[in-house]
Amino acid sequence: MFRLVQTLNFKTNLFPIWFMRQAGRYLPEYRKIRSQKKSFLDLCLDSKISNEIALQPISRFDLDAAIIFSDILIIPNSLGQKVYYIENIGPILEPLQKKNLLKISEFHKFIAKNSEVFNQIKIIKKKIKGKNLIGFVGAPWTLAVYMLNRKSPKHNFKIKNLSFTNKLINLLTNFVTFHIEKQIESGAEVIQIFDSWAGLIKENHLHKFCYYPTKAILNSVKKKFPNIPIICFPRGIGKKYKDFVNLVKPDCISIDQFISPSWAITNFNGIPIQGGIDPAVLCGNKKDVAKVVNKYLNIFRDYPYIFNLGHGITPFAKIENIRHMVEIVKENRS
Ligand code: CP3
Repeated sequence: MFRLVQTLNFKTNLFPIWFMRQAGRYLPEYRKIRSQKKSFLDLCLDSKISNEIALQPISRFDLDAAIIFSDILIIPNSLGQKVYYIENIGPILEPLQKKNLLKISEFHKFIAKNSEVFNQIKIIKKKIKGKNLIGFVGAPWTLAVYMLNRKSPKHNFKIKNLSFTNKLINLLTNFVTFHIEKQIESGAEVIQIFDSWAGLIKENHLHKFCYYPTKAILNSVKKKFPNIPIICFPRGIGKKYKDFVNLVKPDCISIDQFISPSWAITNFNGIPIQGGIDPAVLCGNKKDVAKVVNKYLNIFRDYPYIFNLGHGITPFAKIENIRHMVEIVKENRS
């Protein structure tokens, strides 16, 4: 029962398991629903369908947490920069025009545009028992990268206008905070902040674009909701994960596959750790799945740890590998 929140409260050896992008194209039942709707955002903004998609992986694998079915780019889209998802390419954003963006004072318009996300949360809460519901957002930096670059950046991203980027990060910090608070008010019990492109920030800008905005969000949310755990995922920052943990002080830190789990244990001041398993193992053979799960079970024995990957499940993940991973974890936990 509620293994996720218990582990976030420092209980050990419960080993909850869920996956980033657990609802997605690797699942035939997702592909079936997806083929019937024209746009991905239409799926996210229809709570009757989105709640069912969010629950698909729970029904199939009996995971310990549901994550709402939405996308980080729902924020730019509802701020006034339209987002399109193109098959095999990913998200494409229309040109960013300052004058089209909502102002901080217009947050009620933002909430109204996303009302279906909040309805989804209410529906899921009524349907799941003994499991936790995770809400999520993109971090301001990662959202700014998509808004300025208008597509996924792949390997690098250059800031052209520093002063505008600062203003944009500030605006996003406010809207990300609203979005989290509204998700909690609707019933989300845990929040994850995805800073998927933190690894593209130059070292001398990490404080300004990653640590401080995330810290500001945590401070605001904690004032209103001190007991809601917040998981942070500053993907790709390597050894700087240590500075992040010390400065931002999240309730839990999600690691990517480039972070050594034993290094993490000795450097993160005992805070709960999540993830780190290379998503590629799910595309390989069962033996390698067992090997990596046993490695993480041994390292994280008596440490509050949440099983998850170092990044999202890919469309090529094999269902039998996911099932195998879940089985081994469940056999080995108390
Ligand atoms: O984990 C879950 O099951 C919840 C749903 C979820 C989605 N996106 C659904 C989605 C979550 C948590 C996200 C987060 C997200 N979205 C991130 C942060 C995590 C990460 O991957 O780094 C980012 C960067 C995005 C932006 C985004 N959305 C991209 C780059 C893409 C295209 C890549 C892809 O896999 O298609 C999306 C589309 C997207 N978001 C899909 C899903 C299920 C696929 C859409 C489709 O069906 O075509």
